[in-house]
Amino acid sequence: MPTEAEERWNKDGTVLRDAIIAAGYEAELTFAQDKIEQQNADIENAIVKGAKIIVIGAKDGSAVGPAVEKAREAGIKVIAYDRLIMDTDAVDYYVTFQLEKVGELEANYVIEKLGLDKGEKGPFNIEVFTGSSDDNNAKFFFKGAWELLQPYFASGVLVSPSGKVTADFTVDNWQDISIDSWKMENAQREMESRLAKYNGGETPLHAVLSPYDGISQGVINAIETSGMPWKAGTENWPWITGQDATNYALYNINMGTQGETVWKDTRVLATKVAEICVQILKGETVATDATMNNNNIEVPSVLLDSVSVTKNGASDAKDTQSVQDVVDSGYTTEDQVKPYE
Ligand code: GAL
Repeated sequence: MPTEAEERWNKDGTVLRDAIIAAGYEAELTFAQDKIEQQNADIENAIVKGAKIIVIGAKDGSAVGPAVEKAREAGIKVIAYDRLIMDTDAVDYYVTFQLEKVGELEANYVIEKLGLDKGEKGPFNIEVFTGSSDDNNAKFFFKGAWELLQPYFASGVLVSPSGKVTADFTVDNWQDISIDSWKMENAQREMESRLAKYNGGETPLHAVLSPYDGISQGVINAIETSGMPWKAGTENWPWITGQDATNYALYNINMGTQGETVWKDTRVLATKVAEICVQILKGETVATDATMNNNNIEVPSVLLDSVSVTKNGASDAKDTQSVQDVVDSGYTTEDQVKPYE
């Protein structure tokens, strides 16, 4: 897994490892601490230890190429976990969620909250962020969102006071607004500098398209520490999106600072990958439902489904569940996400 520092990869790794062990095999879980060299060393270790399959949540989808090529040469199957491994033939399978749908859910939340689908003309101010420039996923999340939001930029209904995106911004420019390593601190710094264009809060901020809960948290911190006169839960607080249904985001949603997150049930992802591992080890056929291009080959892929999560769920927007639904599913517990009394 790419890092232990983020909540989700711990959950992913643990569920995956435990499912493989429960099926009667041995499994070892390592974290690369967001470092390319560490991940390459982890992969090389697995090769030396005689792994039959290596599952990789890539820190850097391209930089991991040479390491997986060594695995391929050693006859080991390689599964790209959630993030596609790029620019190499040495990937056997890719399992993730429908990537563009994540961005569509986020954009639709903004569209519904601002009433754009009802013909509201604004103009509304929005800040737009993309994920890490070394992660192919980030481009697709943005693509899904931008295809829905760009027309509103073209008609002048949405504007970005920071000037970071304009109507002629294209999906191919996505790395211009990337948050390196998806890190909260990097997002906070970037948002602080964008807030300089908001005249101490006199210019309103209506929405923030954030592709990941850690980035959303950075944005919230920036707003709160910069002394903006905007208050969560009131009309002057922006609608902020996210992804991963992390505990801190669900908590923020309960508190009213973050509006939405996209919930990709990582238990389903990890369980699916464990199932594929067992099929490979038993010599059975692995069923896939799509292919994803990694610049070298079409990688056989499984693309899972996701939903939006807001405080109130379906009454907020379509394709949406509530924080309570996430708790009820056992994905987290009430006390990890409940707001202060
Ligand atoms: C992406 C992943 C997201 C989020 C992000 C930051 O690759 O698809 O769900 O976890 O990394 O970790």
